[in-house]
Amino acid sequence: MTTEEEERKFSVEEEKKIKLMQQEVDIVRRMSKIKHKIAVMSGKGGVGKSTIAVNLAAAFAKKGYNTGIMDVDIHGPNVPMMFGVEGKHLIFTSDGIQPVETEGIKIMSVGFF
Ligand SMILES: Nc1ncnc2c1ncn2[C@@H]1O[C@H](COP(=O)(O)OP(=O)(O)OP(=O)(O)O)[C@@H](O)[C@H]1O
Ligand SMILES: [Mg+2]
Repeated sequence: MTTEEEERKFSVEEEKKIKLMQQEVDIVRRMSKIKHKIAVMSGKGGVGKSTIAVNLAAAFAKKGYNTGIMDVDIHGPNVPMMFGVEGKHLIFTSDGIQPVETEGIKIMSVGFF
């Protein structure tokens, strides 16, 4: 490999690193805007995680809180189905992916992709 090729490879790798760092900064910036975050999780399947998460979100929205739900189930994301918004399309903007909104709740799920 020539010096020029090595330099090019180095700069491509550096650019990738910078992009990843920028993504991390964006995530931290966005997450910092969310005042309260509640994680609903368990080490076991089928115990009611989705049911609890969806009902918590619905209850908070009903109380007037600005509420969002992030369904991070990658094996069987069923939050869109539970809110009746299955098959809805996400909107991609320069500021990121806009969640699907229903009944005052912003929903993001792998199930939309
Ligand atoms: N408190 C409860 N009492 C009885 N049944 C419940 C309760 N909560 C949830 N269920 C039922 O248990 C089943 C699993 O619930 P749910 O999908 O919320 O669990 P989960 O932990 O999210 O499952 P998974 O690991 O598959 O994502 C559903 O059929 C749901 O209706
Ligand atoms: Mg679930």
